[in-house]
Amino acid sequence: MMRKTMDAVKERFGNQILVGAEVGVSNGIHAINILQKMPNVRMLYLVDPYLKGSIWEVHKEGAKQKISEAIKTAGKNKLSPFNNRTRWIYKQFEECTIEDIPEPLDFVYIDGNHAYEHVIKDLTLAGQLVKKGGVIGGHDAGDLGIERAIKEFCEAKQIKRYGANNGKFMVHGVLKSQGWDWWVING
Ligand SMILES: C[S@@+](CC[C@H](N)C(=O)[O-])C[C@H]1O[C@@H](n2cnc3c(N)ncnc32)[C@H](O)[C@@H]1O
Repeated sequence: MMRKTMDAVKERFGNQILVGAEVGVSNGIHAINILQKMPNVRMLYLVDPYLKGSIWEVHKEGAKQKISEAIKTAGKNKLSPFNNRTRWIYKQFEECTIEDIPEPLDFVYIDGNHAYEHVIKDLTLAGQLVKKGGVIGGHDAGDLGIERAIKEFCEAKQIKRYGANNGKFMVHGVLKSQGWDWWVING
């Protein structure tokens, strides 16, 4: 199973060769899912600053998690079998330029800092990096900051917001709820 944003990417592009990015990789659970289930993804840019001592909040669990070297190493190790299809960018997405991501993207999956101030910047940059007709989506739909940013982005571009529950699927042998995804077709 895949998260719903990636189902939307599949539905839109079928088996075409794709280039995408994940914003907020953490220990790589979702990125590896993309790379394993979508061999047509030729390149996945992996964007995560792993800021020391910083925390990100996961609204649905009300949890805060400290970013540690251990998480960064876990992500790097987990994704190392896919080194030929990935490029790490250890930066905040909002700081990325076309030198970091030098080709147009077919999709971006946003799951970085969930605060409105960051999400709106992530969406604005994604809107520039993703081709018209490409998919911009992400995790934790329903989070207030995320929803506010999506609403503003969609209103400015006059595009429609989609969303769906990801359901549950196995992660490391444990059946886990995968939260809600949101996505838009870039206009
Ligand atoms: C919720 S986790 C990502 C989980 C991952 N997408 C998954 O589903 O397996 C959030 C990650 O976003 C990263 N992050 C925080 N601020 C960021 C930013 N401005 N740009 C990119 N990543 C960011 C954090 O370091 C953290 O690893």
